[in-house]
Amino acid sequence: MAYFLLALGAIGHMVLWVAIINRVHSLGMARFWIKLFTAGFVAALAFAPVAVASILAWQRWGTPTGLMQFAATAAWIYVALCAGLCIVSTVHRLYLWWHPERVALPTHNLTRPIHLHERRREMIAPGIPSLIGALPGNQVLNIDFQEKDIFIDRLAAAHEGLRIAHLTDLHMSGRIQRAFYEHVVDVINEAAPDIVAVTGDLVEGDAFIEWLPATLGKLRGKYGVYCVLGNHDRRASEAKLKQQLAECNLVHLGDNWRQILVNDVPLILAGNEMPWYAPAADLSNCVGDSANSRLLRILLAHSPDQFQWAQANDIDLMMAGHLHGGQVRFPIVGAITSPSAYGVRYVAGIFRAGNTIMHVSRGVGALTPLRVNCPPEIALLKLRSTIGEAE
Ligand SMILES: [Fe+2]
Repeated sequence: MAYFLLALGAIGHMVLWVAIINRVHSLGMARFWIKLFTAGFVAALAFAPVAVASILAWQRWGTPTGLMQFAATAAWIYVALCAGLCIVSTVHRLYLWWHPERVALPTHNLTRPIHLHERRREMIAPGIPSLIGALPGNQVLNIDFQEKDIFIDRLAAAHEGLRIAHLTDLHMSGRIQRAFYEHVVDVINEAAPDIVAVTGDLVEGDAFIEWLPATLGKLRGKYGVYCVLGNHDRRASEAKLKQQLAECNLVHLGDNWRQILVNDVPLILAGNEMPWYAPAADLSNCVGDSANSRLLRILLAHSPDQFQWAQANDIDLMMAGHLHGGQVRFPIVGAITSPSAYGVRYVAGIFRAGNTIMHVSRGVGALTPLRVNCPPEIALLKLRSTIGEAE
């Protein structure tokens, strides 16, 4: 029984500290503080089991003292609490798996795999990135091009079939080379989308702003290419990045919204870069809405944590990234790392609450070029009316 409790406690201990690290990374704190807190929490993750094991060994083989009894009681209380957390977290995961927000209308999902491993030397930098890229099971160059039907209740007939390419989390850092991103752009342009939405984490510093004209600057969308920034974009000069995006004809929707005409019917595209860049778009003065006519509202956000904001602002479709699908997904357990206030709840996929649908992409890049059971994703979302679906 004691060993069973210890085993559950060990799992619960990992769940506890990974959950804390995930939540801290969801906050809009400066990078220095996040790194400092993370170092402390990783130390707790590593040393707490050593401390518990040492105390229990002392209790078993040492000379009994009052201090020993106190330490052993404290150790067992910690183990019991962690074991309880393990059980609660397992039940919570199962609850989330069948949560109504996951049971959206049926989504037709067609996946076309794009394997670029033959071009690994060209697409991953030499040295450590290349060694990581060559690890067995690493899918960092196995892109899934995923076509998904998204069913929206209030879709105007003029917007039926609207195709939106959703690209996110490129993380241009030089570890994954520019040729990879050029290929990604070619894939999207071949699909000839109506709108291209890029939802943040574009570059890892000023040096990679220069990559934009040859990569994102070549994206083509019939009704334009739109973007928001993510937390990693703070590593580059905001002014330089925004200037380059504008020169590349990427419309930055950070804290604003705009109306565009699609088949002569207007729709609203809005941005939300919270919590890293404030404020989000103010939709209280949205034009064109009236009691009898309401415009389709599409939101580009970096963090899925803005899902509630999207619901409060009556968004029809929100697109987000940030969580990379967990990047490394384990058998049975799935994703573990997910820098969100909701943990792994919105790590990737399609979610629905009220009239709001959220598409969370796994993203196409990563700062560390390692993905396991979690290939990069380029999504092509096709908007469909729900009318007739129930038949
Ligand atoms: Fe990211």
